[in-house]
Amino acid sequence: MWVPPQRIKHTLPEGNWPSREEARDSLWFSPLRVGNLALEQRTWIPAMVPWRSNEEGEVTRDVLDYYERYAQGFPGALVVEATGVRDIPSGPLLRIGHDRYLPGLRKLVEVVRQASQGRTRLFIQIIDFLGIRRRPEPAKFFARFLDVKDRHRQHFPDLKDDEIRQRLAAEPALWEQVLDEREYETLQYGWRERVTDLDTPAIRELPQSLPPVFAAAAVRAREAGFDGVELHYAHAYTMASFLSGRNDRKDGYGSTREGRLRLPLEVFREVRRRVGDDYTVGCRYLAHEGIQGGYSQEDACFYGVELARAGMDFLSLSRGGKFEDAKQPAVGWAVYPYTGPSGYECMPSFISDERGPWGRNVPSAGPIRAAVREAGLETPVVVTGGICSFTQAEELLRSGQADIIGSARQSLADPDWFHKVALGRGEEVRRCKFSNYCEGLDQKHKQVTCQCWDRLELDEPGVALAEDGRRRLLAPSWKP
Ligand SMILES: Cc1cc2nc3c(=O)[nH]c(=O)nc-3n(C[C@H](O)[C@H](O)[C@H](O)COP(=O)(O)O)c2cc1C
Repeated sequence: MWVPPQRIKHTLPEGNWPSREEARDSLWFSPLRVGNLALEQRTWIPAMVPWRSNEEGEVTRDVLDYYERYAQGFPGALVVEATGVRDIPSGPLLRIGHDRYLPGLRKLVEVVRQASQGRTRLFIQIIDFLGIRRRPEPAKFFARFLDVKDRHRQHFPDLKDDEIRQRLAAEPALWEQVLDEREYETLQYGWRERVTDLDTPAIRELPQSLPPVFAAAAVRAREAGFDGVELHYAHAYTMASFLSGRNDRKDGYGSTREGRLRLPLEVFREVRRRVGDDYTVGCRYLAHEGIQGGYSQEDACFYGVELARAGMDFLSLSRGGKFEDAKQPAVGWAVYPYTGPSGYECMPSFISDERGPWGRNVPSAGPIRAAVREAGLETPVVVTGGICSFTQAEELLRSGQADIIGSARQSLADPDWFHKVALGRGEEVRRCKFSNYCEGLDQKHKQVTCQCWDRLELDEPGVALAEDGRRRLLAPSWKP
C-alpha cells in the first residue's frame, strides 16, 4: 500500500459524541429526500466489496449475513457492493447480468428490510469493467502473447519469429528497446484493456453495447425490490475511464469534457427510460481523479452539474483509485487500482501528509455541490473519505459542503455505530484505525474483515469463520 512520503501519523478526530437529544436535533440524524425516497437520516454506507459471493456471482448465505449485519445499525442508506452488469465470469464478484440472479437479490432485499425494520433504504451499485489479466511469466509472455511484427524483426534480421521470442525471453536488457510501450506494460503489469482501444471492436462499440446492459441491470434491481441503483462511474472501471481526463477517444466519446461525459449521460438516459421516472437512480463518480492527466476541478464541477441536470437523483463523490499509477503486481497477480497515490486518495490511511486522511475528499467535493446549487439544482451530494466522527459529519452538513455523509471503513469497524450515536452512546463506538487492513484483504480477494473485531470471541457458538479459519466474518453483535 502506498503512503505519502511525509509519513505523518494522524490521530483519530475527537468523537465529541452527542447526547441522545443532541443527536436527535442534529442534521446528520435528520431526514432527507433522495429522488422518490425518504432517507430517515443522512448516514450512508457506501459500496464495499467484501468478497462473500462465489464464482457464479450469486448471493450466498455469507452475502446475506454481511448485509444483514449492517442493516442492524439502521443506516439511512446502504449501498450493496459493485455488482457486475454483464453475464460473464467475473471471479467472486456479485452479478446482476441475468434474470437467474433475481431470487438471490430478492432475498438480500428482504433480509435488509427485516433487519433494519424497514428503516434503511437499500441501493445496489452496478458496474462494468474491462478485461484484465495477471502479470505473466516473461517466458510465457514471449511464447504465447507477443504478436511478432516487422518492427520487432528489424532488430533481429537473421532470426525466425520463434527464435526472436526465445532471444527476447532470455535477454531482459532488450525489452525496452524492442517492445513498444503497450507490450512492455503488458509484460510488466499484465494485459489490460482500455476504453481508448478503438481497434478492438468490442471497445469501439461500448457506446452502443453499454446503455442496454446497464438498463437491463437497473430493471432487475427494481424487480428485486432495491430502493434504487447507483451507477458506478468511479475509480478504475469502464465508465470512470470514459469520464477520465486521459480519455482521448476521437469518435465523439472522448477528447473534450462534453465528449467524455457523453456515454455516462447516454447510459443514464437509457436506465431512466427503462426504470421510469419514479425510481431512484444516482451515480458515484470521482471528485478528483488523482492521476497525472486526470480531469480538473472545473471538469468535476461540470460533470456534477450536467449529471444532476440530466436527472440523477443523487451524486456520490469518491476520489482516486486508478490503474494508471498502481504498483507493479508480482508475477501471477493482477494489477490492483488502489496501490498507488490515487489509491491512497480513495482510501486514505492514518499515515499521511500534512493534509491528513480526515475528510480528504471535502476540498474537491464541496465545490461540486456549490456548482450544482448555483445551477439551481437540489440534487443531494454524498461525500465520503475519512469521515468517522459526529463532529466532522455535522460540520460538513452545517457548512453546506455535503448533504449526506458516507462512511465505509468506520461502518465496517462498527456496523452499529449510527445506532449507538443516535442513542447517545457514542462512547461505545468501535473506532476504525484507518490502517487499511481491510483494503489489504480486498487486494488479495480475501474475505474482508476488520482488525478491530475479527479475532474477538472466536469461540462464540455458531460464529462463522473466514476460509483461513482464523477470522470471524461478522462483527460481534451489540445489544442496546
Ligand atoms: C474493502 C473495500 C471495498 C470497497 N469496494 C468498493 C466498491 O465496491 N465500490 C465503490 O465505489 N467503492 C468501494 N470502496 C471505497 C469505499 O466505498 C470508500 O469510498 C472508501 O473506503 C473511502 O471511504 P472511508 O474513508 O469512509 O472508508 C471500497 C473500500 C474498501 C475498504
